[in-house]
Amino acid sequence: MQLSGSVAVVTGGASGLGEATVRAFVAAGAKVAIFDMNAARGEELAEEFGNAAIFVPVDVTQEDSVAKGITAVVEKFGNLSICVNCAGIAPAAKTLGREGAHPLDLYSKVISVNQIGTFNVLRLAAEEMAKNEANQNGERGVIVNTASIAAFDGQKGQAAYASSKGAVAALSLPVARDLSRDGIRCCAIAPGLFLTPMMAGLPEDVQVALAKDVTFPKRLGDPAEFAHLAQTIVENAYLNGETIRLDGAIRLP
Ligand SMILES: NC(=O)c1ccc[n+]([C@@H]2O[C@H](COP(=O)([O-])OP(=O)(O)OC[C@H]3O[C@@H](n4cnc5c(N)ncnc54)[C@H](O)[C@@H]3O)[C@@H](O)[C@H]2O)c1
Repeated sequence: MQLSGSVAVVTGGASGLGEATVRAFVAAGAKVAIFDMNAARGEELAEEFGNAAIFVPVDVTQEDSVAKGITAVVEKFGNLSICVNCAGIAPAAKTLGREGAHPLDLYSKVISVNQIGTFNVLRLAAEEMAKNEANQNGERGVIVNTASIAAFDGQKGQAAYASSKGAVAALSLPVARDLSRDGIRCCAIAPGLFLTPMMAGLPEDVQVALAKDVTFPKRLGDPAEFAHLAQTIVENAYLNGETIRLDGAIRLP
């Protein structure tokens, strides 16, 4: 599927990997809707792109909020054929910490945003995509989810985060199978360590220590490299049902 002339939703598009994806997709000629809860940053970003982007305040965990967001996209741009799910949170807590057992509400919140939020958006986006006329490859839409290498090599303090991302990785194949009849593909990217506001919050010595474990190149990932893979997944009609690591070959202990 071509980005030029297509309409995309990017959740978490106001920051980090999502923002880089918005920038890349607009540069490639797509119309982009930023779904995020950070209205100040989302509106600022949409304004930067004029007619090529809109910001829609959306909480991915809420059915109504996402449904209204998709309606707003179709009203503004006419249809929807690409959905990139980047909205996510990554609070750290141990299963049994100094203050006792992992708070259950924190576990539920992470699952709610990262896992249920991803599925909530993709299922409603797919419903809209299925209405499109198929292109010459028979495609009506593409879904790109964001897992994490924590899906495979979760660290201490990541029980909730790793569970949520394991679920996102596991969604690629069954969702691709479910939506094959409609000509909609589904893949996930499992990023390693990327320099986004989520990571920039870590102390510099921790960032340097993390980069040392990357096989090559020995640095954190550039969000533009994530956006590049999201674009490739959209453009390559034979990529489907897979979760792709994007991590400089890092394997966390
Ligand atoms: N940065 C990394 O190294 C890294 C590595 C692996 C996976 N990831 C994943 O990539 C995705 C993006 O991460 P990032 O580093 O760009 O983070 P980020 O914090 O910079 O951006 C996340 C965005 O999601 C939005 N968001 C949070 N909850 C939301 C909700 N309920 N509804 C709508 N929007 C919501 C936030 O407002 C924010 O703009 C996340 O899913 C994260 O888990 C990041």
